[in-house]
This record gives sequence, structure tokens and C-alpha cells, in this order.
Amino acid sequence: MTTAAVVVAAGRGERLAASADGPKALIEVAGRSMVELALTTLRAVPTIHHMIVVHPPDAEAAFRSVVGDATLVAGGDTRGGSVRAGLAALVGEVDVVAIHDAARPLVPPRVVAEVLRAVRGDVIAAAPGLPVTDTLKRVGDHGDVLVTVPRRDLWAVHTPQVVRRDVLEVALALDGADDVTDDLGLVEVVLSTGTVTGRVRLVRGDPRDLKITYPEDLHLAAAIVRGSSP
Ligand code: CTP
Ligand code: MG
Repeated sequence: MTTAAVVVAAGRGERLAASADGPKALIEVAGRSMVELALTTLRAVPTIHHMIVVHPPDAEAAFRSVVGDATLVAGGDTRGGSVRAGLAALVGEVDVVAIHDAARPLVPPRVVAEVLRAVRGDVIAAAPGLPVTDTLKRVGDHGDVLVTVPRRDLWAVHTPQVVRRDVLEVALALDGADDVTDDLGLVEVVLSTGTVTGRVRLVRGDPRDLKITYPEDLHLAAAIVRGSSP
């Protein structure tokens, strides 16, 4: 089975207010850019054979100097559009695609390996996740609590999201696919149409696989890197 990793790194980082400093994925966490950190982990997983990095269209040169031998491809206006661009850049025989957010630079190799192992037999897609630990409430205007949501079976989903390539192609052909930020969600829609059968599975992830969204997440990520180095 041949696996390719598509690192989506074409976001602008508006919530990080990154645009002034260039693309979000080139921002450094403890001295290395997010995209480099993610690639280093993915390269440490021996079952990944091809590496594709999806960059903002105007930033190819800056990415070229940090991605080594990964294939570079320009991204779209949305994450879904960038996944589509990454898939179009696959060459040769690839059976499984691991889609990873550059905004999750600290995913441990164990998590990547376990998610990849999960996609076999009737499991056509998998991702890491963790059970939600906070109490959840649906909230209306002015912060008024409407109802408490039972969290017993609720998980937060991380990346890499790993999908069989043939299923991902069907998923990306769905109407509105470019507007969906969750690759597994698209697979669930494909399953509901009955054109494909199979199961979608979450495996236990790791809190270090946090998504850097706001400036404070950068501080947290830097602290994690410092805490885990010898
Ligand atoms: N992404 C992408 N192409 C886009 C939008 C997002 O490749 N057009 C990628 C981001 O680079 C990131 C991942 O999708 O690795 C998750 O997106 P998010 O965390 O929302 O990052 P940004 O879109 O960059 O941030 P913001 O939404 O704050 O602008
Ligand atoms: Mg975004």
C-alpha cells in the first residue's frame, strides 16, 4: 500500500494576524517553521512514501527553501480547495492519502503511525481525536445558556485525516466539498449516499497535536517544544 502525505499550508492565518509576517505556516515555533516541524514528523514515519506541501499561491519561493524534497503545489481559497490541489499533484500509484494541517506542527509520530494503521479492511478513513473533557453547553444571545450537551460520546478531531484515495476522489466531487474543513466529514457524506461502503474511525490522539489558531497557541506550542526537549 502506497501512502502520500498532503500538508495543507496555504492558509493566511487571519486569526493569528500573521499576514504582516508572511504565511502562517512559515511562522516559527521554538526556532523552526510550523511546516518544517510537521514535515520532520511525517518524514519519520516510514510508511509515508510521498510528501506534498500546499502553499499560498504567492509564497512558493519562501516555501521552497524550507520543504526539502517535498512536492510544492499552490493552494486554493479554502482548505478544501487546497486539499483538492494537493490531490491533483499526486503522481504514480497512491492508495491512501494523509491530509495534515501545517497548523498542527507538533503531532507526535506515534499518532501519525496509528492513524495510518487504522485505514485497512472496511475502515476507509481515520483521524486522531480525543474525548471532549470540558462541559459543553449550547449558548444563545448574551451568553444565555440554552441547554447542556451530554459529552459522553463526543470527541474533538485532529489531523492527519487519512482517507483511501479512491474515496477521497469521490468525496471531493461532492457539491460544496471545497467549503468543508473536515475531510472525514466529506467521507461520511459519501457513505450516506451509498455509493461507497465502509467505516470511518477515530483513534486516540495526543494533546500536543493542537491547532495553532490564535497568538496564545504559539506560546503554548513553544512551551510544549521546550518541555519535550532533553
Ligand atoms: N489551509 C489551506 N488553504 C486555505 C485555508 C487553510 O491550506 N485556503 C490550511 C491552513 O494552512 C492550515 C489548515 O488548513 O494548515 C487549517 O486552517 P486554519 O487553522 O484555519 O489556518 P488559516 O486558514 O491559515 O487561519 P485563519 O482561518 O485564521 O485565517
Ligand atoms: Mg482558516
